[in-house]
Amino acid sequence: MRIETQRYTERFGSVRLNEVQKVLELDSGRAKALHPLENIAVLKIEEEAIKDYEEKMAIAIPIKDEKLKLFEGVISGVPHDCLIIVVSNSQTKRVDRFRMEKDALNQYCNFTRRSALIIHQKDRLLAQALAKSGYTKLLGDDGLVRDGKAEGMIIAILLAILAKKSYIGFIDADNYFPGSVWEYVKCYAAGFSLAKSPYSMVRILWHYKPKVSAGMFFRKLGRVSEITNKHMNSFISSNTGFETEIIRTGNAGEHAMSLRLAELLPYATGYAVETQELLSIFEGFGGVLPLAQTTVAKHGVEIFQFETRNPHLHEDRGTTQHVENDMLLPSLSTIYHSPLCDKTTKENIINELASRGILKKKEKPLRPRVYKAPKEVNLKKFQELMPENLTPYLALAEE
Ligand code: GDD
Ligand code: MG
Repeated sequence: MRIETQRYTERFGSVRLNEVQKVLELDSGRAKALHPLENIAVLKIEEEAIKDYEEKMAIAIPIKDEKLKLFEGVISGVPHDCLIIVVSNSQTKRVDRFRMEKDALNQYCNFTRRSALIIHQKDRLLAQALAKSGYTKLLGDDGLVRDGKAEGMIIAILLAILAKKSYIGFIDADNYFPGSVWEYVKCYAAGFSLAKSPYSMVRILWHYKPKVSAGMFFRKLGRVSEITNKHMNSFISSNTGFETEIIRTGNAGEHAMSLRLAELLPYATGYAVETQELLSIFEGFGGVLPLAQTTVAKHGVEIFQFETRNPHLHEDRGTTQHVENDMLLPSLSTIYHSPLCDKTTKENIINELASRGILKKKEKPLRPRVYKAPKEVNLKKFQELMPENLTPYLALAEE
């Protein structure tokens, strides 16, 4: 594929934040020596290089009661060499939707000669293994993993580590275009191939996020993302002393990380998760607070933001103010509660939330629940307690 070269990189301690890079060409043809007039502003990433990273990547799909047709479309867009990990919180009682997802995945693996993992978020063996290896905060009063996409993501990270993968990418299950899923994975792989540090992250910015109203309107950014980005940039500006607009992907649900980075980050619950990832990186490696890991500082953390060609069309749960607010509050709360957050950004956040009627005037947002980093749990014990080779969770091609 061809993408724009990194034109500008902002620094926050040892964290390198790259400006948005646009995908220019989805398929750049056979590998051959670069054309003498190849533009220096353009990077060509060969198919083989992308494949090298796909082999080392798990694609995690969190799912909760989505239409089966959408789920089938999403898995069909994941390149063959990636390991698919489905973490489902779908209902099993009245209609066993989890069973349906498992059947669909089994059939798909059989036809496409590949293997995948599928686990229910409320799996008892999983909960027991988590409890005994020190991840008790992830469990609710019933002793099972709490609800939430973020909780599903953490399980996927742990399974990807057990499956000996090096990278993990997240893709929502309610996406209407398998072609866009395919493009996200290509972007993830391209980003990792460009990274100079083993601690890297790729975040996706959609070319358009269409909304169907009178006709189709191709929106650039969701409103929530715009607001989150504004406050995140103000947060960074106050820490570096230079005004910036570098962050364009504060809420990117579609994103990927090297597992070496993923295992080091504390994660927030619910819609706060993607914003908190950035904050965890700035807090851990921005150089203002004591470094979370000195070895990381040596290499630095690298963050890429890629703008895709495909528009993003996902299941519309209604664009009411209520839905937007449900997302904005946790997202801005993480910024507010970061130990690095300055007074002005805090005030702006309080005013933003009050002006939208989300909180009362001068009311402070509550601190979202934050889970400790996977590296801090006893991974060895977790592995010992999980069934050998994850057999009960395998969807496999039949012999
Ligand atoms: N495992 C699991 N457990 N998955 C869940 C859960 C859960 O409790 N709740 C939701 N999911 C799955 C959904 O089925 C979907 O595949 C994905 O997580 C995202 O949930 P949505 O409900 O579709 O979220 P959204 O579309 O409002 O928001 C998405 O985009 C935002 C950025 O615009 C999410 O990816 C957000 O995290 C993201 O910030
Ligand atoms: Mg969605």
